[in-house]
Amino acid sequence: MIGVFDSGLGGLSVLAAISRALPRADLAYFADTAHVPYGSKDDAFIRGRVLAIGRHLVAAGCDLIVVACNTATAAAVAALRAELHGIPVVGVEPGVKPAAQASRTRRIAVLATEATARSERLARLVREHAQGVQVHIEPCPGWATRVETLHLDGAEFEAEASAKLEPLLAAGVDRIVLGCTHYSFLAPALAAIAAQRAELVDVAEAVARQVVRLAGARHGSAQLKLLATARPERLHAALPRLDLGFLARRAGPAQFAAI
Ligand code: DGL
Repeated sequence: MIGVFDSGLGGLSVLAAISRALPRADLAYFADTAHVPYGSKDDAFIRGRVLAIGRHLVAAGCDLIVVACNTATAAAVAALRAELHGIPVVGVEPGVKPAAQASRTRRIAVLATEATARSERLARLVREHAQGVQVHIEPCPGWATRVETLHLDGAEFEAEASAKLEPLLAAGVDRIVLGCTHYSFLAPALAAIAAQRAELVDVAEAVARQVVRLAGARHGSAQLKLLATARPERLHAALPRLDLGFLARRAGPAQFAAI
């Protein structure tokens, strides 16, 4: 079984890509909804949650773990790999490299949580992969919570997102990296603002390809187990609202996980 986790609903964008790539695999999705958002928490807290969830998923039978969260990856993927010695762990990092390669203006932006924006891991990613392209890092407080409450568009968000994106677009940014898995669900609203001026960069498909490389062709029973640390019923109910009805059909009722 492949275990995928996030602070909440954001990692479902990665789960959807994995599920399409491996339609027969058995999957577990763990949402730490009692502690979302991670982006406003300190690294020690995030690390504690990541280690506890990783151990829980392995004890439940997962033999490959996907950290479907940029914030958790930045704060704790190294600690998780050390903890789960021998179990492959795939992390998610903002697509700085593909964005820098594709940029014609040589200016890109990364939208991320506060914790990812300040992380040493993102600074290193930029140092090693921006190839001289100018990178604007933009923390977006409150956006993950917006997705958790399924407020994915509307005039209020349009105004807030325009205030964030317009100065970047005016500065010539032509690639906008979605550096938080929750932001995939804000992509239609963000793409409407960026219109002809910039393209959004999401790594969910690339992460799924990496999972396929590590998992091989899996022939399970196409089961999807949903787990959450608070209000599990909301996790299942959110799937159709996020255009993921195909995952809802694959899943049993979501279960409460007391960790
Ligand atoms: N989905 C997460 C990420 O990719 C974290 C959002 C949050 O909990 O703040 O960064």
